[in-house]
Amino acid sequence: MEKCFVMLKPGVLNRRIAGEIISRLEKKGLRLVAMKLMQISDELSKQHYAEHEGKNFFGELTSYITSAPVIAMVWAGDNCVQVVRKLVGATKVEEAIPGTIRGDYCLHTPHNIIHASDSNLSAEREINLFFNSIEIFDWNDEINSWL
Ligand code: PPS
Repeated sequence: MEKCFVMLKPGVLNRRIAGEIISRLEKKGLRLVAMKLMQISDELSKQHYAEHEGKNFFGELTSYITSAPVIAMVWAGDNCVQVVRKLVGATKVEEAIPGTIRGDYCLHTPHNIIHASDSNLSAEREINLFFNSIEIFDWNDEINSWL
């Protein structure tokens, strides 16, 4: 079963919309297997976004993500990465279709409210960056027979 790293970025707690966003992923049938509220350090933010180092928005991206607590999660399910990316929507908010999370909740790309791994390789790297194996609970799911 595939896993995907998802992070609700700063602003989500202030806007009191964490439950709504988590609910969208749950209603799709995905399985929440890890979750924690955390303040990201400078070092972790740079590691997480390492592939974007050198881009003109890198400083803004890392300072935003370290500006307030985030909710880090791991979701599991068939084709999880692809399914989550569809629910999340396009990176550029003007291209994010209404009905997607970014399409419904984000007005400015630099302050979009959610990050999701873009491949299985990224998912593995990001999950290992944010979680120890004992923080991931691969609970038994019997709902699969109904989906
Ligand atoms: S790119 O341009 O293809 O490298 O960007 P992309 O892979 O789509 O996005 C990488 C992350 O950078 C964020 N991003 C930005 N932040 C601030 N300002 C600007 N202009 C900007 N453009 C992209 C984007 O939201 C991605 O972060 P996550 O956390 O995945 O949303």
